[in-house]
Amino acid sequence: MDLLIRNIGQLIQILEPGNHWVAGSDMNHLEIISNAYLAVKDGMIADYGSMENCHYKSETEIDAAGKIVMPSFCDSHTHLVYSGSREQEFVDRIRGLSYEEIARRGGGINNSALRLRNATEEELYQEALMRVQEIMSQGTGAVEIKSGYGLDTASELKMLRVIRHLKETTPLTIRSTFLGAHAVPPEYTNDQDGYVDLIVNDMLPKVAASGLADYVDVFCDRGFFTVDNTSRILEAAGGYGLLPKIHANELDFSGGIQTGIKYNALSVDHLEYTGQNEINALLSSKTMPTLLPGAALFLGMIWPPARTMIDAGLPVALSSDFNPGSSPTGNMMLIMALGCISMKMLPEEAIHAVTINSAYAMGIEHQLGSITKGKKANLIITRAIPGYSYLPYAFGSDLIEQVILNGQIIKKQ
Ligand code: NIG
Ligand code: FE
Repeated sequence: MDLLIRNIGQLIQILEPGNHWVAGSDMNHLEIISNAYLAVKDGMIADYGSMENCHYKSETEIDAAGKIVMPSFCDSHTHLVYSGSREQEFVDRIRGLSYEEIARRGGGINNSALRLRNATEEELYQEALMRVQEIMSQGTGAVEIKSGYGLDTASELKMLRVIRHLKETTPLTIRSTFLGAHAVPPEYTNDQDGYVDLIVNDMLPKVAASGLADYVDVFCDRGFFTVDNTSRILEAAGGYGLLPKIHANELDFSGGIQTGIKYNALSVDHLEYTGQNEINALLSSKTMPTLLPGAALFLGMIWPPARTMIDAGLPVALSSDFNPGSSPTGNMMLIMALGCISMKMLPEEAIHAVTINSAYAMGIEHQLGSITKGKKANLIITRAIPGYSYLPYAFGSDLIEQVILNGQIIKKQ
């Protein structure tokens, strides 16, 4: 074996192969082995079990007595390629302005777009690389990253190339999403339809030809893209084989959830405004409801009804939404804690939500998101702690001692 982790206090989130997601009442059950081992070969999980049955030896052995070993986090929704920061808007909001008012005054996403257009590809890469290194040290092993701060064809392609560069140069598993429809740029003020023409006729063909995007996204919400324009974009993207993952129902009952489902979205994300109609639509779909508590906390929104969704039998994923305007953190341990503290998710439910369910939401559930033989050895080893419920309980503590990606030990920053 290339690596053997021995005497593991609790090995958690063990799933048999073939589990695509965990839903409803199954979410409050977590498969664990106490006093366990885990063996890694060729970057993959080769075997695991109870210490009594461990017959392996390795040159590299880690003693994890009293510690938790779990799959690394999958963060299925981020915007971590951006230029600069927006703490002035944070202060404006403390003084009473709303996210939408700030956007109307030229702040918000368009503020980031202006900066991104002026930044070189190398500058953007270096800034994003620092964020990637930070989230890796915080236990993230897979991340989805969106474009959407370019808002013209050349700048959107520039962002997508930066994401590809990150894919090529970091040990993270990365998926990229084209989000040309993040906001209407200043050149198209009061002409959303005209900007959508540009997306459909110019951006999408070029993005598809470049092979730079795995998925497509639209911010379908009040004050942003209408259901009609969202449908136009998703219809066109479908022609290029791009599945949607969309921003929906963050600001209102916008119809975004139903529109995403209609176009077979892999996930619909945010979902502060989710009622019984939306839950019924989700129940008859293969779309993962993905909640972003970092944004709900930071913007002072209502909380998405995670409890009602799970009690209705739905799966739920949690992700960070790492971005400069509404969630300037990619810390998934904190996101998991917010799921428990603010949305009344049980620790077991939150753990499913940041591993297998968020892996599904970015289309990598066959490779990542659980302790399963043959999956990538992307693992977190915690400090010695009493048990897994301590993870969301001790929120804000740095509980991660080591991170292993593709079977390699990543030194903590
Ligand atoms: O997911 N909701 C839309 N987009 C981002 C915010 C991006 C920004 O403000 O820069 C989000 O919250
Ligand atoms: Fe987002």
